[in-house]
Amino acid sequence: MLAYQLLPGEGIEGLRCVVMPERPLSLCEVRVKVHAVALNHRDLTVAAGNYLVAVDDPIIPCSDGAGEVVEAGHGVTRFRVGDRVIASFFPHWHDGVTSQDKIRHALGGDVDGMLAQEVILDENALVHIPPSMDYVDAATLPCAGVTAWNAIFVSSHTRPGDSVLLLGTGGVSVLGLQMARAAGLRAIVTSSSDEKLRRTRELGAHHTINYRHTPDWHEEVLKATGGLGANVVVEVGGKGTVNRSVSAVAMGGTVAIIGGVSGFGGEVNPATLVSSAKRLVGIYVGSRTMLEDVVRFVSAAHIEPVVDRVFPFHQAQDAYSYMESGSHFGKVVIAVH
Ligand SMILES: NC(=O)c1ccc[n+]([C@@H]2O[C@H](COP(=O)([O-])OP(=O)(O)OC[C@H]3O[C@@H](n4cnc5c(N)ncnc54)[C@H](OP(=O)(O)O)[C@@H]3O)[C@@H](O)[C@H]2O)c1
Repeated sequence: MLAYQLLPGEGIEGLRCVVMPERPLSLCEVRVKVHAVALNHRDLTVAAGNYLVAVDDPIIPCSDGAGEVVEAGHGVTRFRVGDRVIASFFPHWHDGVTSQDKIRHALGGDVDGMLAQEVILDENALVHIPPSMDYVDAATLPCAGVTAWNAIFVSSHTRPGDSVLLLGTGGVSVLGLQMARAAGLRAIVTSSSDEKLRRTRELGAHHTINYRHTPDWHEEVLKATGGLGANVVVEVGGKGTVNRSVSAVAMGGTVAIIGGVSGFGGEVNPATLVSSAKRLVGIYVGSRTMLEDVVRFVSAAHIEPVVDRVFPFHQAQDAYSYMESGSHFGKVVIAVH
């Protein structure tokens, strides 16, 4: 069985394909033949050694993979051989609000992840995928899909007709745009690229802003919402964007703090939140139940996640480099055969 390994801190160049020995399953474990793995910005962070949790030994990277059950332990009740599955980002966060115990491991972060021909996971870390969904589309959902869902539909008081501001056109934001439109929300999108903005309009974005040409894009968001502001902001920018996001959100609205593509840090003046009852909410992906809800919604709404490029397994390093270049729109996927 082939797998990629990486010692966090070595960078993308440290990614190497190795032969891994197979081991027998324990009672409640499932062996999954992986068909597709989707990359996230977080995988670059892990490679760079800047992820939230540190490890001393090489790990199999990547959290998001889809595949087929090829063997089930004797105690497994939720899956059978032949079932098509995706893995949940946090193997121990099944439901409810988060806790230290539930997020103690994250696939491809401090424990082995999905960039391998086969993986072994506890049955409770897996979710069924419906027959209508292919492996590539399914692989996009565990991190980017669940994070966007949690931000827009779980941690915010979103109602049909509300407006959502999505920053940039990476994996979280484009899936957020697709889900927001399918749920009847108005979508405002920012990007550094007019061409990418054109593509978001094709996906149903109501208003688009080039943040390079319009550095004070928060004022444009206020204009586009009749002075009210967006009800939810999917804040992936970090220190370079968070204060503009606070300015762009409506009274009583939510800035869902997700990422830091411009770096983490900066300061938010609490006074800017008080009289307008604005909420800042931290988002850390989500639970298996949220992943099940995302799969159900994406399937029912016939959403086809935007996949920019699919790389073959032997070009995993190229897939990482492409992601790092920032030229992608939506998701980058590695097909595993
Ligand atoms: N907290 C969590 O649970 C969680 C989960 C998933 C992701 N994240 C974080 O969320 C962020 C996005 O993740 P991703 O996987 O969607 O990344 P991604 O696919 O690499 O997309 C990043 C996008 O951000 C945009 N961007 C870059 N600089 C920007 C800026 N100054 N202002 C606005 N947009 C900017 C770019 O869009 P354009 O090319 O259109 O300009 C770029 O394509 C990362 O920081 C990631 O670590 C956190």
